Amino acid sequence: MESLKNKNIVIGVTGGIACYKVLDLIKKLKTSGANVHVIMTNSAEKLADKKDFKKASGNEVRDSLFEPNIDYKDYIKKNKPIKHISLADIADLFLICPATANIIGKIANGIADDLLTTSIMATNATVLICPAMNVKMWKNPILQHNIKRLKELKYEFVEPEYGDLACGYKGMGRLANLDKIADRIKSIIARRNNLAGKKILVTAGATSEEIDPVRVITNKSSGKMGTYIAEEAFLRGAEVTLIRGSNSIEPQYHFKDIKINNVKDLLNEIKKNIKDKDAMIHAAAVSDFMVSNKAKRKLKSFETLNLELSPTTKIFEKIKNMNKDVFLVGFKAEYMVGKNQLTYRAYELLKSANADLVVANDVGKEGRGFDTDTNEVFIVDKRKNTKHIGLSDKRIIANKVLDMLK
Ligand SMILES: Cc1cc2nc3c(=O)[nH]c(=O)nc-3n(C[C@H](O)[C@H](O)[C@H](O)COP(=O)(O)O)c2cc1C
Repeated sequence: MESLKNKNIVIGVTGGIACYKVLDLIKKLKTSGANVHVIMTNSAEKLADKKDFKKASGNEVRDSLFEPNIDYKDYIKKNKPIKHISLADIADLFLICPATANIIGKIANGIADDLLTTSIMATNATVLICPAMNVKMWKNPILQHNIKRLKELKYEFVEPEYGDLACGYKGMGRLANLDKIADRIKSIIARRNNLAGKKILVTAGATSEEIDPVRVITNKSSGKMGTYIAEEAFLRGAEVTLIRGSNSIEPQYHFKDIKINNVKDLLNEIKKNIKDKDAMIHAAAVSDFMVSNKAKRKLKSFETLNLELSPTTKIFEKIKNMNKDVFLVGFKAEYMVGKNQLTYRAYELLKSANADLVVANDVGKEGRGFDTDTNEVFIVDKRKNTKHIGLSDKRIIANKVLDMLK
């Protein structure tokens, strides 16, 4: 699929041990139709051969801000293009991969002392940073502070993974999987700015119902789907409020973020926040039952325990009564049912809540649903139209859903 056709991806390769892996990423991007332009830092050129990057990208590798044989006084008089500006301008996306602790520190502090940092300073394109380093460098509070600062400024990251590191340590720091990076690039390129100025409420993650003061009944939702929707909506320019189960993954960006535990808390927060919203995407995995004989004190572990469960409020069905104009999107998780049953049940849910869209998935199938990075969904609308999104990264699904918001 040529989803990057004619897109210009500028890749800054910095001096990390993972830099040779980028050759495979360049091949993937080119297969998807992208034009790839590489800038290497001096350190990167000590670790990898510039010629390999030229061969993989099909373009000359750039590495210096000032060329040795140019008379810059004459050059500027004649209005010739200045390289860092032209690379910064043509970029549809600016990738830094691998990103050293050093380059992250430089960008976060506004340093522009070589071709790469100067080009990054001058670009309007989204900058996607893929750090890779030794685990102790990764955990260094100065680096983490720099990353936090950059996220506040809407720089995007594909975080490194846990595993064996080239330095002999085991831990966080390995360059993220190349397919994950390629998927992220595709989802950024496909992103539209259709949500600028819109107010969006998103729910995410699992609710949990107390059995006693220390024990709960909950479910396996990681909160990834809802949190990614909130992040992607924020990056599209929306004013986002996220309400999420307290064990959900943390959002990377700075928007209103409310943590809840049980269904009652969730309903209260929705009531408080729904009034002025243009759209609500209800991706939280809400407990269907609550414990009606909840113990006031911690139960003794040797006692046999009979729990009495009663159904919780169907939150989704109440939303349009709270704000009749909100564009309402829900999620329907089913277990091992066929496509027809899945979309039928999604449509029934849509009708019961007077919703605008329901995103249905089968959590019984491998790689789909709770606590995975991927999902396969069917999006059902009011006219019973069904849009199928095959097994994809949850961030790509988040963008497909956001594309459909009115
Ligand atoms: C063999 C070798 C491997 C290195 N690998 C990494 C790495 O994986 N991540 C990192 O942040 N720094 C790594 N460094 C350190 C950087 O190369 C160093 O901080 C350099 O200043 C980075 O410059 P640059 O960001 O301009 O490319 C490595 C250094 C050496 C000698």
